[in-house]
Amino acid sequence: MLQRIPAYGRRASSREELLALIDRIRGIIGSTPVRCFQLGGYRLCVKLEYVNPTGSHKDRIALYMVRGAIESGVLGPGGCVAEVSSGNTAASVAWISWSLGLRPVLFVESRASETKKSLIRMLGGEIVEIHDEGLGRDWVRERAEELGCVLLDQLSNEYNHLAHYETTAVELLNQVSQVDAFVMGVGTGGTITGVARRLRESQGNALVAAVTPRGSKLAGGPGADTIEGLTSHTVPEVYQRHSSLIDRVVEVESSEALAGIEALASATGILAGPSTGAALAAASKLVAEGALDTGSTVVIVAADSLARYPQLSSQLRLGSGRGDVLLNSWWS
Ligand SMILES: Cc1ncc(COP(=O)(O)O)c(C=O)c1O
Repeated sequence: MLQRIPAYGRRASSREELLALIDRIRGIIGSTPVRCFQLGGYRLCVKLEYVNPTGSHKDRIALYMVRGAIESGVLGPGGCVAEVSSGNTAASVAWISWSLGLRPVLFVESRASETKKSLIRMLGGEIVEIHDEGLGRDWVRERAEELGCVLLDQLSNEYNHLAHYETTAVELLNQVSQVDAFVMGVGTGGTITGVARRLRESQGNALVAAVTPRGSKLAGGPGADTIEGLTSHTVPEVYQRHSSLIDRVVEVESSEALAGIEALASATGILAGPSTGAALAAASKLVAEGALDTGSTVVIVAADSLARYPQLSSQLRLGSGRGDVLLNSWWS
């Protein structure tokens, strides 16, 4: 039977109607495929989160955070939803909110690219530009309040963690019977901690490795290198709250993340974004240092697609040999 598409953009007249619409939108988020490949003596499985409607894993948390706000009573029909993001979360929050007849307001750094801003606008989002990066979260909270918006704040919102604990991780464990290592970049820490918690409950001994840019705060450094989608200058509250679930922190240089994109593309045909390239680079380091037994299954997440980063095309070339350095460790 054909699924009836929710009445996108229609303003619900009650909280119950909003929650019913959310249930229907939930049906088109998640249930993303996993592809597994034999790489030398190891199995690499990749969960393809770019299959989600707006192209990333953030659709899951946007739905959970908005639903949480509705259930707690702070957000009602026609209400306003705010978030600080110019990336994947911005697209997800704009899309979910607009679909529910809510007003999405996104706080975006003024130097964010016009491509990113246009995507947010296309998805129904209003943009408030942050011209001075030093203004911080209090400033954003005050502006959001002035506008009458509920600030979701993915960096501290526990529904971020919960979305991955209840959906991403459950799907993953149904799709991959034995997970020996889960390697994931940290932006807010929602994905890695949500999946890690479920892994700990069902398969106690999986190695959970957090991937972070070289010299980041999370790795005890000053916050030097950057990889898009991953945090460098802060250790987010969601990550801090659940950091006892993490076994290892693996630092990756931005150039290694690019090599990881090429390696993944040449070994599997999957075209993923830089955070996934960083995860592949980190997994390759773990394999190279003997942290994983031969025969292990390593899981990474393709949080988004390379298609979201047209500016990277000129820096990448399949067959350049850069990716081989990473892939060799899986075969030797
Ligand atoms: C492309 C990309 N990869 C990875 C992450 C990290 O996910 P999380 O915020 O769940 O740690 C993000 C988060 O912003 C992202 O946008």
